[in-house]
Amino acid sequence: MLGIIFTTLLDMVEDKMGYAIVDELLLSTKLEGSYTGVGHYDFNELLKIVVALSEKTGIAIPDLLEAFGEYLFGKLMQGHASLLPDNISMIDLLSELDSNIHVEVLKLYPNATLPTFTIINKSHSHIDLLYRSPRQLEQLAVGLIKGCAEYFDETCEISLETMTSSPHEVKISVNLQ
Ligand code: HEM
Repeated sequence: MLGIIFTTLLDMVEDKMGYAIVDELLLSTKLEGSYTGVGHYDFNELLKIVVALSEKTGIAIPDLLEAFGEYLFGKLMQGHASLLPDNISMIDLLSELDSNIHVEVLKLYPNATLPTFTIINKSHSHIDLLYRSPRQLEQLAVGLIKGCAEYFDETCEISLETMTSSPHEVKISVNLQ
């Protein structure tokens, strides 16, 4: 997983809970913590941090992943707003994750490990996507979609339905209000 994901997670914990918690987390997970934005690290290390954070705060892992996704979208847009086509709508952005946005991400970061999002249904105010990834981060996707809605000044409802467990496939439905 890309270093920016790790540095952004630790930035979120520092912003919301203070540096002392970051320090405790790294000590308790025995991870050295010297992540750099351009590095590449084992996905299991990210899970260790999230599990330790959940134990420390009492916040359930899916809720932490969602909060992280929401925070991450804003941070990704700060550095990569030029990746979005001009005047794109939120639904169009969601429908172009596989065909455009994540393709551009891969050009910038050839090491990135990305999910796939297949469009099942789409209208101007609604989209159903099939999320597929062995990392099972659909709750992170929900947070990213919430961050995306904030970015576009939209309000939406999001629901998840697991379709198959192997491979891991989850239907994500987004309805704009
Ligand atoms: C709402 C829109 C988006 C959704 C739902 C989404 C979803 C995801 C998910 C769920 C992952 C985790 C990997 C996995 O599940 O296997 C991921 C990774 C990533 N996405 Fe997106 N994404 C969105 C928009 C963006 C945008 C706009 C950018 C860049 C500007 C971006 C850049 C990345 C990067 C850099 C990674 C990390 C890859 C790695 O660590 O190897 N995403 N995305």
